[in-house]
Amino acid sequence: MHIEQISGNIGAQISDVDLANVTDDEVEKIKKAWLDHKVLVFRDQHITVEEHIAFGRKFGELEIHPFARGGHVGLGEYPEILRIASNPEKEFAAVIWHSDVTWREEPSLGSILRGVVIPETGGDTCFASAAAAYELLPDDVKSQIDDLYAIHDFTKSIGEKFDDEERRELQEKYPPARHPVVRTHPETGERSIYTNGYHTDYIEGVSPEESEKLLALLEKAIMSPTVQFRLKWEVDTFVMWDNRSSQHAVAADFYPDERIVERVTIIGDRPF
Ligand code: OGA
Ligand code: MN
Repeated sequence: MHIEQISGNIGAQISDVDLANVTDDEVEKIKKAWLDHKVLVFRDQHITVEEHIAFGRKFGELEIHPFARGGHVGLGEYPEILRIASNPEKEFAAVIWHSDVTWREEPSLGSILRGVVIPETGGDTCFASAAAAYELLPDDVKSQIDDLYAIHDFTKSIGEKFDDEERRELQEKYPPARHPVVRTHPETGERSIYTNGYHTDYIEGVSPEESEKLLALLEKAIMSPTVQFRLKWEVDTFVMWDNRSSQHAVAADFYPDERIVERVTIIGDRPF
């Protein structure tokens, strides 16, 4: 197995490994590289859907997305697979910076995504280290946000995909979640920005104006090229990212082409 760093603050590409046949020793090395680099890229992994799911299970229990709809569909007998198909009629690709399902009380630990149908040009995914973004904040901003909490709400991001009744039902099951603005990684102890432009509604305990200002400032920190790398997809590229210490966004520059990716999502803990 060969690990090559992609950029200064985030990302590594791993070669000489077959995700369908990983040894325990390789899984341990991948886990360590994942913590070190936050996002891992594997190329040319011509594996089955079952093998994708089995690979995901090596890192924890898998989430069945509670309300995948429309372009977001499970693959029939594989409810663990979230298939995200985007075309001009259904623009499902997430173009706003985020980490996954932060509107849940226990958001995802990590996600493993496969390129299925990749446009000729465009549709790259950008990844940012939320730890490096936090580290680079001025000290006075850090001390201002260190003990604050924010409210995350799915109705802000994906709410309009449902009719009113459906949305009300889902809101009862998934009320707004409260998470620290800066979370501590349970395995590395690293501190990371944990608000995002997609699912975060507001910061508690400050005025609405101050909340807007802080959220914009934190999103700007995530958007800095210094903390990012940009992934060019191919069919059967696999990418696994740590949702606790990174964020991602898709470039919406591939329409009218179609773009299809398939995700397995690893269940996480309550952020602290
Ligand atoms: C996701 C997501 C990124 C992509 O699967 O969580 O945001 O590249 N997708 O489609
Ligand atoms: Mn996502």
